[in-house]
Amino acid sequence: MTLTTSLTVTDTIAQQHSEQLLTLIKRKISEAGGKISFADYMQLCLYAPGLGYYSAGSHKIGYGGDFTTAPEISPLFSRSLAHQLIDVLRQLGQADILEFGAGSGKMAVDILRELDLKQSLPDHYYIIEASADLRQRQQQAIHDVIPHLEYKVVWLDDLPSNFNGVVLANEVCDAMPVHRLHFTNGLSYERYIVNNDEQLQWSDDELSRTDLIDKSIEIKSFIGDTAYFTEVNLAAQAWLASLADNLQQGAIFIIDYGYPQAVYYHPQRSNGTLMCYYQQQGHDNPLILPGLQDITAHVDFTSLAQTAVDNGLDVAGFQSQADFLLAAGITELSSFNDHDDAFLMLQQATEIKRLTLPTEMGETFKVLTLTKNLDHLLPRIELGDRRYNL
Ligand SMILES: C[S@@+](CC[C@H](N)C(=O)[O-])C[C@H]1O[C@@H](n2cnc3c(N)ncnc32)[C@H](O)[C@@H]1O
Repeated sequence: MTLTTSLTVTDTIAQQHSEQLLTLIKRKISEAGGKISFADYMQLCLYAPGLGYYSAGSHKIGYGGDFTTAPEISPLFSRSLAHQLIDVLRQLGQADILEFGAGSGKMAVDILRELDLKQSLPDHYYIIEASADLRQRQQQAIHDVIPHLEYKVVWLDDLPSNFNGVVLANEVCDAMPVHRLHFTNGLSYERYIVNNDEQLQWSDDELSRTDLIDKSIEIKSFIGDTAYFTEVNLAAQAWLASLADNLQQGAIFIIDYGYPQAVYYHPQRSNGTLMCYYQQQGHDNPLILPGLQDITAHVDFTSLAQTAVDNGLDVAGFQSQADFLLAAGITELSSFNDHDDAFLMLQQATEIKRLTLPTEMGETFKVLTLTKNLDHLLPRIELGDRRYNL
């Protein structure tokens, strides 16, 4: 994909909003002495209070938004996930669920409905959400659709200590700010953002952190001397380390698009995995439309698994989304339909295809299951287990 500058913003309020964020970014660059890391830039673009893509009020997720996610495609996704949760909750007695980055709140609604149906409700369904705007949208969804279960849902600002239960993160790690590296002529550089004659531009300089130096040595072992751009998600590693610290007993399900390290840093992926989405159009230029477009990077599942092990978690499973959902009974869920309702059957068949076919989300999305102090194995996560790839 090429640099895209032709995307036009027709909404003048959106345009003004983006200009305000641009002014803030330029001020931050100047305060920092002329450059900021790409991770700092991405953090501002997505989460600057009131201005960032996720923090401001535009409609981003779901039909009519910039992108759609598995819980928005079908309730069958969250209902199947609920069956995986039951396997853990039943081992724990008193336990809670903690969802990170709950988006529109749809996954929370559908999981709670299914758990209610199966008489397996947790003590609490906690949500930690980086965006104040999305938090409001989630509160509204819970209130409108499942008012009888509203008392279960609690929004938290920080991780609860000594947590017992299940942690969920669907498409959250890919929305965390990444550092961007450039390898050329056997040397490694970090890519910064500078303000050059009032234009945001890339600029290469020394790596800003020692953990990036370690990471760049590791990446070189995969790419050799190939000229190469790529991303490193230190935020996801720090997030997982603190989760591991606070989890006393239970499981963490991380669902996202990404690869094991050897595939992530394959010499052929020489432009990295950074992608931007604006009104359903994907492109690879994060320097345009600040605050108006989503910016994401694929997840390196090996480094998450390594962080998990380093912090006392067990890596219990690594599956494709297709295998995870099939083991959780997604096809059985749809077969309980009223078979006279041909439209519903057709709709669910289409949704299952989107979630599980290798050419759709089934293969690109993976599920990493991490556990701590569980007495029994989780049999569903054995289907198509690929931990050997990590
Ligand atoms: C791509 S959206 C996915 C939303 C939802 N999980 C879904 O699947 O539809 C990313 C979500 O993660 C949130 N987020 C990103 N980083 C976060 C963090 N460190 N803590 C909590 N929420 C976070 C964003 O605000 C947003 O709600």
